[in-house]
Amino acid sequence: MERELALEFVRVTEAAAIQAGRLMGRGDKNGADKLAVDAMRAMLDTVDIRGTVVIGEGELDEAPMLYIGEKIGDGYGDQVDIAVDPVEGTNLVAKGLPGAIAVMAVAPRGCLLHAPDMYMDKIVTGPRGVGVISLDAPIEDNLKALASRLDKPVSDVTVVLLDRDRHQDHITRIRKVGARIRLISDGDVSPALAACVADSGIDMLLGSGGAPEGVLAAAAVKCLGGEMQGRLLPEDASQEARVREMGHDPKKLLGLDDLVQGDDVLYVSTAITDTDLLDGVHYGPEFCSTHSVVMRSLTGTVRFVRADHQLEKKWPEGRPVTHSRRKS
Ligand code: FBP
Repeated sequence: MERELALEFVRVTEAAAIQAGRLMGRGDKNGADKLAVDAMRAMLDTVDIRGTVVIGEGELDEAPMLYIGEKIGDGYGDQVDIAVDPVEGTNLVAKGLPGAIAVMAVAPRGCLLHAPDMYMDKIVTGPRGVGVISLDAPIEDNLKALASRLDKPVSDVTVVLLDRDRHQDHITRIRKVGARIRLISDGDVSPALAACVADSGIDMLLGSGGAPEGVLAAAAVKCLGGEMQGRLLPEDASQEARVREMGHDPKKLLGLDDLVQGDDVLYVSTAITDTDLLDGVHYGPEFCSTHSVVMRSLTGTVRFVRADHQLEKKWPEGRPVTHSRRKS
């Protein structure tokens, strides 16, 4: 894929984040999602690609924008598959809590797993976990193996899990081994990325969450050289049939290369609210500011992009000063 696409896609997630962020804390998760979807959809058609949505807002018969199978882009350029989540963490935006992002992953046709809308069991670590952790191994063994690779006691290893009843057994076992836990209320893509970054304070993500979110996370993990394994978790016969229809074996342990094939994937996200690595959208009188990360697996480049976006076109008294609230 053309490398210029990376910056084109940042514009797409920025647009979604700016729109969704306006409804932060307003208790309107569907409203925030709709604003983000509209912004993302409109911006995608300006990009020089022949794209197909493979993970999106729903199926064709529900006719949402960004439905699975929808063609996007200006009809020129690379043939790509696209996974989008205009608001990953809709509850987080509605409540004004940290961790919400606008996110997408892009890869050559056929390279992203067409994950059905169901749960996936996931384990994610950074590069030090490659070859030492397994979704099929006991949690205790994974924690000890990772601690040894990270050269620190298991009591200093931090695991992120969604705060769900279904994770109670995991939580009990992690506590028994003595590792640290961070429970999150929503949004498991952003912590998956953080688990791959050395000084993020997160060492592992564990537990079940959305399968589509699993593919988005896998794109980030691949770009960062981390480790991820997943397994689809159909909950009834119809979900199991759906998995088979899509050509997947429901019991298969999915490695990173099953989730994202090949070496050429792009991952882009813009924070809507603050995340471990990114500042959320801030709105000023003339500008709003965004903070994004864009990564390419082909080169391993990780770019953090801060941008000020002009809100008003007219400045009768001249262009205002760009204020910086930057940490760096
Ligand atoms: P949204 O679709 O509301 O953005 O939810 C996102 C999310 O929290 C994911 O990050 C996670 O994988 C999944 O939902 C968890 O699902 P559940 O809330 O059913 O446990």
